[in-house]
Amino acid sequence: MAGLSIENVTKRFGETEVLKGVSLDIADGEFVSLVGPSGCGKSTLLRIIAGLETQGAGSVRIGGTPVEDQRAADRNLSMVFQSYALYPHLTVGENIAVPLRMRRLNGVQRLPLVGGLMPGTRAVAREIGQHVADAATMLEIGHLLDRKPGQLSGGQRQRVALGRALVRDPAAFLLDEPLSNLDAKLRVQTRAEIAQLHRRLAATFVYVTHDQVEAMTMSDRIAVMMGGRILQCAPPDVVYEDPDRIEVAEFIGSPKINILPLEILPDGRLSLQDRALDLAVVEGARGVASLGLRPEALRLKSGDSPLRGRVVHSENLGSEMFVQIDVADLQERITLRATPEQRGALALGTPVALDFDLHKALIFDADGARIRRLRHLNAAASEVA
Ligand SMILES: Nc1ncnc2c1ncn2[C@@H]1O[C@H](COP(=O)(O)OP(=O)(O)OP(=O)(O)O)[C@@H](O)[C@H]1O
Ligand SMILES: [Mg+2]
Repeated sequence: MAGLSIENVTKRFGETEVLKGVSLDIADGEFVSLVGPSGCGKSTLLRIIAGLETQGAGSVRIGGTPVEDQRAADRNLSMVFQSYALYPHLTVGENIAVPLRMRRLNGVQRLPLVGGLMPGTRAVAREIGQHVADAATMLEIGHLLDRKPGQLSGGQRQRVALGRALVRDPAAFLLDEPLSNLDAKLRVQTRAEIAQLHRRLAATFVYVTHDQVEAMTMSDRIAVMMGGRILQCAPPDVVYEDPDRIEVAEFIGSPKINILPLEILPDGRLSLQDRALDLAVVEGARGVASLGLRPEALRLKSGDSPLRGRVVHSENLGSEMFVQIDVADLQERITLRATPEQRGALALGTPVALDFDLHKALIFDADGARIRRLRHLNAAASEVA
């Protein structure tokens, strides 16, 4: 096992600069998820780490050793690609066994007929067979071991690719959306298996996913990538509750964070809808700013509030309910998290007033950078209005 260190890596394809200086240090045994919009360069970064693509500038180290002059095969990384890259002429069982056979058997031992006569081959082959069977059972493809990839569904092929990656004992695992083609049940199950495997092996994982729940539940840290850069890399609760930038706040969290226009008055006080809040910035920015409020930071209130509107849509998920409110003067919809018991007060068309906890307010300057230094003007009352 080994940590990974990526320093100032750039990459361009023709005119397009895909990676604009990406740096990321991943500790030995750490599980880091890479998330970001489609096309932001996640797979490209993974392929550079793996040695399947060369960077423009910058360096990649595995276990402290620069790997620029190491071929992909020598980097001892186990990868699952977005496209599964199975050997079409081999069966499922043989596909999973490939990396084990490559490592445990020498060239002669791997020969189809002669190999079996070489001393020790059979014992190793039996062990490999057991390993493959265990992985296949875990991934529920045990009954498919004799089929060829062409006879499998997309999700089944993905599990074979995953099985092939997981039977190895590499320096690190690089997984590119390994569960994207699985149905919901298998996805949850495989997610748990990978998390357990990570704990058991204490292996280094770099895990690309579009699934927020996967990123939030499996990772030690989440790296949010956008526009060719990593905007923030931090533990899941930190990227959610304490984002560095507005893009991170908007990318992480479902339903999305509410972003409302805010003004910073000349004395630093924040003003929402022409109403001064009991909150001020300590220094710096004045004028245009943004207020980020997670759906759970909002509450219904009675009486006056700068946030008033009508219920336009609601989604009751059973354990919780998300309600969209059209705020008249804002031309924005706000999402509020409520409990299903509150649905009587939240029927379509109902006028409502909202309140929020100032301590949960995320303030961003005109440039999208988070403003963290804030002063609460009325320490006792953290409520608005
Ligand atoms: N071989 C290539 N030649 C030219 N452009 C490429 C090549 N590979 C990737 N790109 C471009 O680089 C950008 C990043 O691609 P990449 O596959 O890394 O994105 P991604 O973040 O993995 O996206 P997704 O989430 O959709 O998988 C994209 O705009 C893509 O079109
Ligand atoms: Mg990709």
